[in-house]
Amino acid sequence: MSAPPDDLVAAATDAARGAYAPYSGFHVGAALLFDDGAVVPAANVENASFGLSLCAEANAVARAMTEGRRGGLVAVAIVGGRPDAAGAVVTGGEPVMPCGRCRQMLHELAALGGTDPEIIGVSESGLTRMSLSALLPHAFGPANLA
Ligand code: THU
Repeated sequence: MSAPPDDLVAAATDAARGAYAPYSGFHVGAALLFDDGAVVPAANVENASFGLSLCAEANAVARAMTEGRRGGLVAVAIVGGRPDAAGAVVTGGEPVMPCGRCRQMLHELAALGGTDPEIIGVSESGLTRMSLSALLPHAFGPANLA
């Protein structure tokens, strides 16, 4: 993907409205784009037992794989911040890029189809766009267990 991914960012922004984050107050939406044009969105879901909280990207991977997807991951947009009075997420000065665990989960789905998806983080000043392989070099994945 080289054109500005406005639709994917919009999907991630909309997904953040579904966040359940009463403990951190930090709402995150992620949207996965596949090579058939499908977009799979998800939000973060926290728990009173804080360590059980689930990131938006992890939920999106689980959702896509539950739908039967095994590869074809082209791009991922992530939008995170605190919501305004109307519930819309307000991004800060630094983009939210996937945490380490989520990088690994995204790699599993991507590796199944042999793609290196573009990861797009949104900040108030614009987009940060990097390949997953740059964010997670020398990744451990399915090939290691083959
Ligand atoms: N979070 C995500 O959903 N994705 C990330 O990439 C970073 C962090 C969530 C987890 C938690 O619910 C909240 O943001 C604060 O860490």
